Amino acid sequence: MSDQHSHQSFETRAIHAGNTADPLTGAVVPPIYQVSTYKQDGVGGLRGGYEYSRSANPTRTALEENLAALEGGRRGLAFASGLAAEDCLLRTLLVPGDHVVIPNDAYGGTFRLFAKVVQRWGVDFSVANTSDIESVRGAVNDRTKLIWVETPSNPLLGITDIEAVAGVARQAGVKLVVDNTFASPYLQQPLALGADVVVHSLTKYMGGHSDVVGGALVTADEALGEELAYHQNAMGAVAGPFDSWIVLRGIKTLAVRMDRHSENATKIAEMLTQHPKVTQVLYPGLPEHPGHEIAAKQMRSFGGMISFRVQGGEEAAVEVCNRAQLFTLGESLGGVESLIEHPGRMTHASVAGSALEVPADLVRISVGIENVDDLLADLRQALG
Ligand SMILES: Cc1ncc(COP(=O)(O)O)c(C=O)c1O
Repeated sequence: MSDQHSHQSFETRAIHAGNTADPLTGAVVPPIYQVSTYKQDGVGGLRGGYEYSRSANPTRTALEENLAALEGGRRGLAFASGLAAEDCLLRTLLVPGDHVVIPNDAYGGTFRLFAKVVQRWGVDFSVANTSDIESVRGAVNDRTKLIWVETPSNPLLGITDIEAVAGVARQAGVKLVVDNTFASPYLQQPLALGADVVVHSLTKYMGGHSDVVGGALVTADEALGEELAYHQNAMGAVAGPFDSWIVLRGIKTLAVRMDRHSENATKIAEMLTQHPKVTQVLYPGLPEHPGHEIAAKQMRSFGGMISFRVQGGEEAAVEVCNRAQLFTLGESLGGVESLIEHPGRMTHASVAGSALEVPADLVRISVGIENVDDLLADLRQALG
């Protein structure tokens, strides 16, 4: 984060960091620099340091500065998707023979990247229950290079104590990576808790309107930031100017959106715990959630994601998804509109048969910022 923004509160940084008025016109919003190359004033004479938009583009720079400021980092990098960001990170940090520790609950695509892509280059992994610090410690070996954590996790809303795992990582001399997609930097600041790198799917709460796919890496380590930026350019899966602009726009309302997501989700989780057709509610805001105390310690509030299990198994869970009307049946999460899905058949189909397999009677909802009474009514009718 630049010193200019370090004293500002989160809401102010969300609106101002990276968003300097356009030097040419005074436009208060950074323009969409839809351009691939830049005129040089004589060979090597770059204006403002830009030469080619894979290496850097002013709209992407605005977003990258904003991301660094929001996570309390020194370097932010924006990618074409969350998985592109993850891919760049893994190919920067790992070589054949290395080992990584991954969580037993994570986004299915992240697991697929490890199991079907990274493993083929000779990097192996162990699966740990990252909510249990001894499980993490036990999974580390002398070839381990990084520990990967997702908290809250997708789709089981498990909570990992970031500070405690950072202690294990430090002791073992390995890097800690935290996927902060479910919380967003408004609710949780992994770098301040000891993480080395934060990963985001910008597609979710950061964009916030289900209209863009993007990803990010943020670090407080300048040397690592340089290395990641080198690989971002060398590999090339960058965020385009328009996608960068739309995420930057979404981020300006992140704080107010997250407050409402959390407020609505709390009321919905409470209703679900009382519902006779619901056998279990997974929401870190509930006092009975096993990670509640840690979540209360490391998160500002508990976010907009809830999973729940229903009586009657897989068919009943699928029926609930199909009957919902206001909750749109679809993958993804974190938009202003509420979504519902069946992880076993949709977002997490790729983990079937693995240590990350999810219960068949599980329904996941992304609680939007509509009127909560309308959302409660829709879920009640969907549950029948
Ligand atoms: C927690 C989490 N991390 C990473 C990703 C991957 O991001 P993207 O879909 O933008 O590639 C997702 C996507 O659903 C996710 O939920």
